[in-house]
Amino acid sequence: RRDIIIDTDPGQDDAVAILLALASEELNVLGLTCVAGNVPLERTSYNARQVCELAGRADVPVFAGCDRPMGRGLVTAEHVHGDSGLDGAPLPAPVMELQSTHAVDFIISALRTAPPKTITLCPLGPLTNIATALQRAPDIAERIAQVVLMGGAYFEVGNITPAAEFNIYVDPEAAQLVFRSGVDLVAAPLDVTHKALTTPAWSAALRAKNHPVCDVVAGWTEFFERFDSEKYGSEGAPLHDPCVIAYLIAPELFSGRRINVEIETQSELTRGMTVADWWRVTDRPANALFLGNIDATGYFDLITQRLARL
Ligand code: BDR
Ligand code: CA
Repeated sequence: RRDIIIDTDPGQDDAVAILLALASEELNVLGLTCVAGNVPLERTSYNARQVCELAGRADVPVFAGCDRPMGRGLVTAEHVHGDSGLDGAPLPAPVMELQSTHAVDFIISALRTAPPKTITLCPLGPLTNIATALQRAPDIAERIAQVVLMGGAYFEVGNITPAAEFNIYVDPEAAQLVFRSGVDLVAAPLDVTHKALTTPAWSAALRAKNHPVCDVVAGWTEFFERFDSEKYGSEGAPLHDPCVIAYLIAPELFSGRRINVEIETQSELTRGMTVADWWRVTDRPANALFLGNIDATGYFDLITQRLARL
């Protein structure tokens, strides 16, 4: 069983990732650390608790972390996720309380207390909490088993600007710190997640399970699909963040390359771009496994099967 900390800004796709992790016996979720991203921190830390309670797991500790990027103002994405961040399926207000410890302190102390290289970090939002922890406690870098994150893009380029993916764009300084930290890093960029499109048929199959959690997830994915079909005319919508959890459970569903990835922090035009040396045209050393392909059928089957266990 792999110990993980999920760093998150729920977000419907974050929520599905959390549910997938909680439904999977291969993973032991030590805690959810929340960050400002899709919606402000107050709301992401509220949503994370709603999701734990939906899974019947009010015992999972939820921590609030950084409420803004390391060196800039916050950019949010209500236009994608709705005002609540979890539009599409109303959930009851959470009863469980937030932990009083700051998310960054929890990440540092969990890594310092556990045997080295036993905790995997799973960032699903801007990298502010992870980078702040690494900056404040550089000794934790060599204690991290792996960082498996959703973020970046290479051929697919950008979804918040023409050049940048949302999670990296919101806090490029944090992303740069994480990509340069020397930790064992795996990234699921848009190139993978744009091949993981939900379909109305999949949402309908979820509903047909007649299972309360599957019903909620179908509500979320239908909400997401409306955004994408109105904007792009596509039938389905990318289910980004669960790729991280699916990679931990079933890495054989994915393939990619170990390459060098640098983060653009300066340019107004391309800020947050992941400059990924996919064709290895530089001699800069590889610092990440950048995923490029996914077996989407296997991915959605895995999610359906696991959610129905909750
Ligand atoms: C990422 O941005 C957020 O809107 C999603 O939750 C995902 O983590 C995709 O670019
Ligand atoms: Ca997210």
